[in-house]
Amino acid sequence: MNRDVVRSQNFVHDGAEFILRHARAALAERDQFRIALSGGNTPRPVYTEFARIARGIPWDRVHFTFGDERCVPPDDPQSNYRMARESLFVLGAVPEKSVARMRGEIDPQVAAQEYQDGLDRLAAERGETMYRHDLILLGVGDDGHTASLFPETAALEEKVRKVVANFVPKFDSWRLTFTYPLINQARHVCFLANANKNRSLLEKVLEGDQEFPAARVAPANGDLTWILAEA
Ligand code: 6PG
Repeated sequence: MNRDVVRSQNFVHDGAEFILRHARAALAERDQFRIALSGGNTPRPVYTEFARIARGIPWDRVHFTFGDERCVPPDDPQSNYRMARESLFVLGAVPEKSVARMRGEIDPQVAAQEYQDGLDRLAAERGETMYRHDLILLGVGDDGHTASLFPETAALEEKVRKVVANFVPKFDSWRLTFTYPLINQARHVCFLANANKNRSLLEKVLEGDQEFPAARVAPANGDLTWILAEA
């Protein structure tokens, strides 16, 4: 695994250009771009800028997935899908068939299983044993979580399943999330994070402090990039 840390004074531009570079490379090499979006607030402006500069990208050859989702309906303000729809899909005129939404509105166990089944079907079409993303975008929470892999939650220990429902005690709610096996199968993982928010935590994660779930992301046969917004 190669790792690169980019301390950016132009975070939105650098993040969007990074995604576009990977899109073009994947489309050129495999005629498809498989990208997983992260939730939260940090990536929102990056998605909007990507929609703006990605004109000419054949969306019908792009497959959007989500690294995690809250267990809420798609029109809920908490929905990661809603954030991506508002900031990227509508602006970029991305067709619905290019987006695999996690159904946060149904039973979490059922939603996780159906999402994993969908990825398994797509992997089988390519003769892959596990769906391999070209790029997975992730964020880092103030407790060092990433996707919905929160400290001291069951999903951290999942070694087989690729998508699970994960109960998060701090929110007293369920989340849907990729697990490490799926994340670490990616060709490239990119953390988009704001270094001004929690500098000391990010430095510990970058040093590999395994106490923090984000530090345990290590693509087995892929690369890892951190793009950090610096003041
Ligand atoms: C989510 C995200 C989560 C997020 C971090 C950082 O569903 O909330 O997937 O992992 O990336 O919590 O969120 P901010 O970008 O809002 O700080």
